[in-house]
Amino acid sequence: MSLTKLDIYSVRNIVQDSIKPSSNINLIYGDNGSGKSSIIEAIYILGRAKSFRSTSIKTVINFSENQLTVSAQTQQNNGLNLHLGVQLNPKQISCHINHQLTKKRSDLAHALPLQIIHPKSFELLDAGPQLRREFMDWGVFHDNENFVQNYSNFKVALLQRNALLKSKQVQQIDVWNKEFAYYGTIVNSFREIYLLKFKPIFIEVLNSFFNINNIDLKIFPGWDNSIELHQILNSNLEKDLRYGFTQFGPHRADFLLTIDSRLAKDIVSRGQLKLYVISLKLAQMQLLLNENINQGCFLIDDFSAELDIVNREKLLLYLSKMNCQVFITATQQSEFGDLSKINNYKMFHVEHGNIKSV
Ligand SMILES: Nc1ncnc2c1ncn2[C@@H]1O[C@H](COP(=O)(O)OP(=O)(O)O)[C@@H](O)[C@H]1O
Ligand SMILES: [Mg+2]
Repeated sequence: MSLTKLDIYSVRNIVQDSIKPSSNINLIYGDNGSGKSSIIEAIYILGRAKSFRSTSIKTVINFSENQLTVSAQTQQNNGLNLHLGVQLNPKQISCHINHQLTKKRSDLAHALPLQIIHPKSFELLDAGPQLRREFMDWGVFHDNENFVQNYSNFKVALLQRNALLKSKQVQQIDVWNKEFAYYGTIVNSFREIYLLKFKPIFIEVLNSFFNINNIDLKIFPGWDNSIELHQILNSNLEKDLRYGFTQFGPHRADFLLTIDSRLAKDIVSRGQLKLYVISLKLAQMQLLLNENINQGCFLIDDFSAELDIVNREKLLLYLSKMNCQVFITATQQSEFGDLSKINNYKMFHVEHGNIKSV
């Protein structure tokens, strides 16, 4: 998949602009406050129908407008051209595929798989497990078309069960225990299958940055899975009632990245940790490519804020060899490093919300 034409209306300081990106590397530079992150934001909105920086969409809409629009022509893996469009205002989200309204955001996510690296991405390995579950599930979602439905059935069971726990109505809990255990076990097995495929690719990507041995990636399912999930629910009912919510299950899952059996986040340097996070994200994209799933867009905001020049050049070379579309921002052209080995790239300059192809 690649965006062949991108149209942006009223995203932060970009009032209206249109670009024809390269199907591989797109380098965007401009002064602070010129609108670089706003371009990344626009592409992110097109794939996810939400902002990556802000919880309130109102702040993303240009101050003098009341809604924003991002649309694009895309070329999909199967050769088809799809038109994608997202319109957001504080009251409504509308997503279009080939000018047909779609209710499911997951359709958009399938048409435009997105990976993003921005300063907050580096919390992936040292913040709480929520981010890592989201990371894992992004991969599982693209890997297995049955994941969304099973996950949403699981989520319903979890919410219903928690509501019963809170109101201490245990007489109906058996019904939801069954659903919870059934769908929860499926969700976990999808995650395990994914992680198994993901791990060798991750290690390979990581080795393109540095040689490292004894690295391991393990899933924690969210409960002691030597015991069946429905049994866990039964034996912890008293505890669940006390807390008013379900203590164990796939909603508590995590993955652990270890080196010599020690948690990576506790022993590697800050700079190395960034390369681990980047490698995790690259590996997810690489797996899509290997499996011939619709490959996506890789977004990197604030390139030089995160990496030294040596690793920036390595990363850019890696991305240029990977068959995916990339958008990278920096304040100076020179921050992209030596471009002599990069074939298929386009450079854009942003100034006061105007984008020019250079
Ligand atoms: N809702 C908005 N409407 C108009 N301008 C905005 C809005 N939100 C932020 N801005 C301005 O947009 C400019 C571009 O922001 P940004 O894309 O983050 O810049 P960059 O990434 O190039 O440093 C900033 O100067 C900011 O003040
Ligand atoms: Mg920025």
